Amino acid sequence: SQYPHINKGLAGIVAFSSNKSFIDGEKGELIYAGYDIDTLAENASFEEVCFLLWNNRLPNQTELDDLNTKLQNSRELPQPVLNYIQNTSKNAEPMAVLRTAVSMLGDFHKVEADDTEEFRINKAITITAKIPTIIAAFDRSRSGKDIIEPLNEKSTAFNFLYMLNGEEPGEEAEKTMDLCLILHAEHGMNASTFTNRAICSTESDMYSSVTGAIGALKGPLHGGANQQVMNMLLDIDEKDADPVEYIHQRLDAKEKVMGFGHRVYKTMDPRARILRGMSKQLSEETGHTDLYEWSEAILETMKSEKDIDPNVDFFSATVYYSMGIKPDLYTCIFTMSRVSGWTGHYIEQAENNRLVRPRALYIGEKNKEWVPAEQR
Ligand code: CMC
Repeated sequence: SQYPHINKGLAGIVAFSSNKSFIDGEKGELIYAGYDIDTLAENASFEEVCFLLWNNRLPNQTELDDLNTKLQNSRELPQPVLNYIQNTSKNAEPMAVLRTAVSMLGDFHKVEADDTEEFRINKAITITAKIPTIIAAFDRSRSGKDIIEPLNEKSTAFNFLYMLNGEEPGEEAEKTMDLCLILHAEHGMNASTFTNRAICSTESDMYSSVTGAIGALKGPLHGGANQQVMNMLLDIDEKDADPVEYIHQRLDAKEKVMGFGHRVYKTMDPRARILRGMSKQLSEETGHTDLYEWSEAILETMKSEKDIDPNVDFFSATVYYSMGIKPDLYTCIFTMSRVSGWTGHYIEQAENNRLVRPRALYIGEKNKEWVPAEQR
């Protein structure tokens, strides 16, 4: 035809080379910089995964201790950012507040493009360290509670739960949160990572690229799906509906069921497999087996009706719910983790940059005659 082919949604287009992650959508395989996701889930800490995504190798003990110290010393927020969090609307979406606060953090750091790898990694550490503090501070502030300052010790997962709840989490809760952070850290050229690399490619700064990426992650087709999954389960509960019928109705109305389907996976997302096990275990421990059982019924219905499998967002919702976390914070937790992948990609893009500048096919008219405003 006279037109070039357009891959709507850039499906299947390879836009960058990367050392960060590999996905085999047919086999349901996910690798971060050489390590299978199951291996990392079993052995790593989130901080080790951060190091891996920033350096393409695992840290030795000294390097890991050093990274932990740097993260611990970077968790506090500048006062003006805290003031913003306390003064903005209590009804604001947490993801919108997080986006604005991260953007504001840039005001307190050198604004020019970063020029050495070490400088970029330090910036990635700073942003990664402060995101949990922002999320917890806003949630407490909007609930009329005191903001809890971060500790200069312990893990990212521990600090987040501590600042959110005002009490130290148990070992199991910390481990569950840490595992969720590992599972969400990196995932190829998804919409937010692409956004982040496109912004980096203009030689803009890391705060701008993370801010843009948060905007992309927020949407319900991407990271916003986990919150929608929980809303759906709570809606089923409130209406006392049969989950299978509820799903049939949605599908008949040609509505999407959140937490299902994926551009790359044509089988069960390996992260969903791990989260499914966690969801089952936690629901048994907390006695809320109904939500887990409905999830399984929904999964079966989606498989038999549409042959569509769950993605990472489906079971993460019930895992967070079992931990007592409010649904509108779920996408913020995704951000807390994915920032490691974004900043890893930023560093990679900056090292071997070319401006991202594709083209659009013009399908409008040409050579139209000018008509003055009063005659239109
Ligand atoms: N519910 C019902 N039908 C679906 C769903 C779903 N969740 N996902 C895909 N389909 C159907 C879709 O309607 C289409 O059917 P048909 O060919 O009859 O029109 C077919 O499956 C192919 O779907 P698509 O929309 O062309 O697939 P895509 O690659 O453009 O979209 C997606 C991928 C993730 C946006 C989509 O599956 C979706 O909207 N899912 C729900 C939102 C969601 O869970 N997003 C999280 C994604 S994974 C992790 C993350 O980024 O957070």
